[in-house]
Amino acid sequence: MKKKLNIGLIGYGFMGRTHSNAYHQVKHFFDVPYDPVLKVVCGLVEEEAKAFADKWEYKSYVTDWHKVIEDENIDVVEICVPNNMHAEIAIAAAKAGKAICCEKPLALNVSQAEQMVKAVEEAGVPNLVSFNYRRVPAVTLAKMLIDEGRLGKIFHYRANFLQDWTISTEVPQGGMGTWRLDVKAAGSGVTGDLLAHCIDTAMWHNGPITDVSAMTETFVKERMHTETGKVEPVGIDDACTFICHYDNGSLGNFESSRYARGHKALYTFEINGEKASIAWDLHDLHRLSYFDHSDESIVRGWRSVHVTDSDMPYMDKWWVPGLQIGYEHSFVHQAAEFLQSLADGKPASPNFREGLATQYVCDAVLKSAKNKKWETVKKA
Ligand SMILES: NC(=O)c1ccc[n+]([C@@H]2O[C@H](COP(=O)([O-])OP(=O)(O)OC[C@H]3O[C@@H](n4cnc5c(N)ncnc54)[C@H](O)[C@@H]3O)[C@@H](O)[C@H]2O)c1
Repeated sequence: MKKKLNIGLIGYGFMGRTHSNAYHQVKHFFDVPYDPVLKVVCGLVEEEAKAFADKWEYKSYVTDWHKVIEDENIDVVEICVPNNMHAEIAIAAAKAGKAICCEKPLALNVSQAEQMVKAVEEAGVPNLVSFNYRRVPAVTLAKMLIDEGRLGKIFHYRANFLQDWTISTEVPQGGMGTWRLDVKAAGSGVTGDLLAHCIDTAMWHNGPITDVSAMTETFVKERMHTETGKVEPVGIDDACTFICHYDNGSLGNFESSRYARGHKALYTFEINGEKASIAWDLHDLHRLSYFDHSDESIVRGWRSVHVTDSDMPYMDKWWVPGLQIGYEHSFVHQAAEFLQSLADGKPASPNFREGLATQYVCDAVLKSAKNKKWETVKKA
């Protein structure tokens, strides 16, 4: 029988559901070294925490996250709460010797992220940041193709993450559901919420970003604050565009907005190399577009690879060729690799230090937009 591994989940919202689903699914599809047990869930409202525990089969529920950390039976803490709470919980969990999986962005700002890295490294506890898009099979396939040298020298890596849900001036800031619009809870707007994903994936694919030049805009300058009941200034960036250089000499171009009418979660990237190009689109996440210049010219063109064959990343664990998987599976892959890393004693990736590298880019982006100058990115 496999050793049981007790999971404590903090936050039962959107991410609380994806992480719980992942731990339910993972042992059925992956040969994982542990049997994960959903031991305790923590959330703010008692009846909601109880209902969540019943629905997702947690053994217990609490409303104070300190109880999860103090519980000696908990092996892994999953941090799925708003960004302003990540640091305090992660640092306490590290001191208590727990393995930690923290949602992105790692922290509210660079200073908190640096303290989190120090805490996990001093305590020597396993740590992972939930940049789950790396684990979409088509995105992982892109990494494989780049690492095999199929693209040759890379010239361009561009990415967009577009939404449209905050266009109405009636959308409030703060509180449940709309904490992302409150700078005190989120740290930043689209930069930390959406571009952090694009930056993590871009640096995984194409290496470190060295410097950035950015602009941001806050289209709606004041919104009702749910907690105070008053109309207050909005401190987040509603839209952000930046250009950058990578260490390898290529150029980057990134855009994110919550004001792109018609787009719900359009994360796309395109990579252009000397020999080939790759493009990917979250709305069609099981496909990878690929252009190979070495093809005979009469049949050369963009091909759409259906990422379902068993020799493609992760796909041997799921159904038969031709049958695709979706968004939630990226979290199952994350859980599988995290559990394996715990058994192997090897760091999972992206760890907190890699999360800090992304935080440094976000910080440089926000500084550049404010100062209207190029900013150098600190190395993590
Ligand atoms: N990896 C991804 O693709 C992805 C997607 C969405 C969100 N996120 C990240 O996940 C985190 C949570 O986002 P979400 O969309 O799940 O938010 P959400 O608003 O859906 O859920 C937040 C949860 O935090 C809980 N919470 C708030 N304050 C608390 C407190 N003091 N004690 C205990 N629980 C508390 C709430 O009860 C709620 O269950 C954020 O850091 C966000 O950036 C990541």
